[in-house]
Amino acid sequence: MYLDNAATSFPKPECVYEAVLHAMRDVGASPGRGGYRRSLEAGRILFKTREAAAGFFSISDSSRIIFTHNATGAINLALHGTLTAGDHVITTSMEHNSLLRPLYELRNRGVDLTIVPAGPDGVVSIADVSRAVQQNTRMIALSHVSNVCGAAQPIQQLSELCHSAGALFLLDAAQSAGHIPVDVQRFAIDLLAVPGHKGLLGPGGTGILYAAPHVRLKPVIQGGTGTNSTAEEQPLVMPDGFEAGTHNLPGIAGLCAGIEFVRDRGLAAIHTHEQSLLSQMEQNLKNIPGITIYGPADGAERCSVLSFTASGVDPSQLALELDHGFDIAVRAGLQCAPPAHRTLGTLPAGTVRVSPGWLTTSEEIAFFSDAVVQCITKIRRSA
Ligand code: ALA
Repeated sequence: MYLDNAATSFPKPECVYEAVLHAMRDVGASPGRGGYRRSLEAGRILFKTREAAAGFFSISDSSRIIFTHNATGAINLALHGTLTAGDHVITTSMEHNSLLRPLYELRNRGVDLTIVPAGPDGVVSIADVSRAVQQNTRMIALSHVSNVCGAAQPIQQLSELCHSAGALFLLDAAQSAGHIPVDVQRFAIDLLAVPGHKGLLGPGGTGILYAAPHVRLKPVIQGGTGTNSTAEEQPLVMPDGFEAGTHNLPGIAGLCAGIEFVRDRGLAAIHTHEQSLLSQMEQNLKNIPGITIYGPADGAERCSVLSFTASGVDPSQLALELDHGFDIAVRAGLQCAPPAHRTLGTLPAGTVRVSPGWLTTSEEIAFFSDAVVQCITKIRRSA
């Protein structure tokens, strides 16, 4: 049983597999690299995917969408492509290393960084972020939903604060896209980083960065774009100049099918299904002595994941028992977000993180909950 959809979603809808195969078997060519029909068809797949993503996130101009290999690639481009020495960036203690490590690197190059600690529930306070604003604040960058505990940040207020400070608002939607609304216009998002392979149900190796028209973005990778070939400098044309090298066409074709699937099924229906599974899981786990669940106390304020610990039980050992004894896949440990665990008080061992998906059933959650009881009993007895 696969309960690690926060790492990558599995299984994918059938239409995603079909789109990948179609791109590989029937199209085959590289987009923008030839005038022949196969290459033109590949270009159409790219355009169709950009349009699908634009519609999904309320982006008015799909040429502002850049294909990347994952959310990490999108975040790196957003940060390295906009920030320079002397700029100040505000982020939170709930971030994944995909945002923190490029920021630490930029700090080494003269960017000023403030990491605002979130509360013990994983939610950052607007007042604390507001106090961190400086004259040179160029960006507020944060994840919409914590990959560790599912806490959703108040992005509407944070975006307003950010713009009143004249800064850019970068949202990492790795754990929210495909689960709850991510509307570029409503939340006035300047830079949006999204993985294609999580909530959007696309293949691995896909992601997108949206950059608003007023964002002056520099490419961070130089190479062939299929256009302006005589120019020595990387063309700044959107999106080609930012997608040097051969595209992951099968992945992008699958991403298009994934986005269409989520759109047709409906975000609200997917969210309701996931919330009902998480709530069932929470009720079951709460009956086990010594269990602590992390994030906001109200389950309705958590999104897509549930993180817990059991007293006297190492989270990694519990995950191993679940895998070996019951073929259940969950992610234990620090989930690449150590400051988030410091915030929640779960260092050094971390938590067991469970993330059901669009195909997970209530019966599976019941099976999972029984398995957790058995594994915990076994580990505690052997201690
Ligand atoms: N960021 C992914 C996770 O949280 C890989 O598991």
